[in-house]
Amino acid sequence: MKLFKSLFSSSGCDEAKAQATTPTPSIHGPVPKVEPPPANAEPAATSEPAPAPEAEPKPAPGPTYIGESVTCPEGGRLQAKIEGRYVTVLRLDGKLACIDAICFHAGGPLGIGDIEEVNGRKCILCPWHYYKIDVETGDKYYQTMEFKEGKMQAGEWKSNGVRQRTHKAWEEDGKIYVQLSTYERRPSHADYVESDGYAFDEKCGDRCLNAPPSANKLKVHSAGADGRKPSGQVLRGQYHT
Ligand code: FES
Repeated sequence: MKLFKSLFSSSGCDEAKAQATTPTPSIHGPVPKVEPPPANAEPAATSEPAPAPEAEPKPAPGPTYIGESVTCPEGGRLQAKIEGRYVTVLRLDGKLACIDAICFHAGGPLGIGDIEEVNGRKCILCPWHYYKIDVETGDKYYQTMEFKEGKMQAGEWKSNGVRQRTHKAWEEDGKIYVQLSTYERRPSHADYVESDGYAFDEKCGDRCLNAPPSANKLKVHSAGADGRKPSGQVLRGQYHT
């Protein structure tokens, strides 16, 4: 089922809430198994032709109501499509975060990934190539290798910079709202974030939007991307599965 969108004027929350549409948690039906492309694959072309650059940025339509607070408990998440853009809202440690649902790397279903902690930061782990993305900042982390005691060993985690766009999510009166950080399909160079390239891709987005309910609960998995550090270990027991 597609998300019904509700766009609010910026003239006041009451008016905005009055215009809110029915919440549309996203999650239905089995998802066909899709083999991810190899990690070194060239990014696939998005399904839509690039529109001509716009002279002026579009004004932001305003907050979008995406669901009742009770539909996103601790460790839960909501998938949504707002103005054609696929986003994921998560609640971790009581705080809401919103991030582009489609992975910047190769269009993977980042929004249904497991949660791990890196350097004390909550990260969502892409199910395809296990990139770790900070849910609050959109930073992509990688682990350095260091030559120690005569051999190469895994070192500290560092950021490759912001690769995934994040958005503002908050609650009012038991309802969850999202304000996209851009409404442009092709943001200007200065505002461009790599995940913008996949953000509107329907084929990629539907892997999150129509994922089964189980995909939207917090999960842990058995091994980290480095094959050594059990991922999710730091979180085990902290969240409902
Ligand atoms: S698609 Fe490759 S890490 Fe997400």
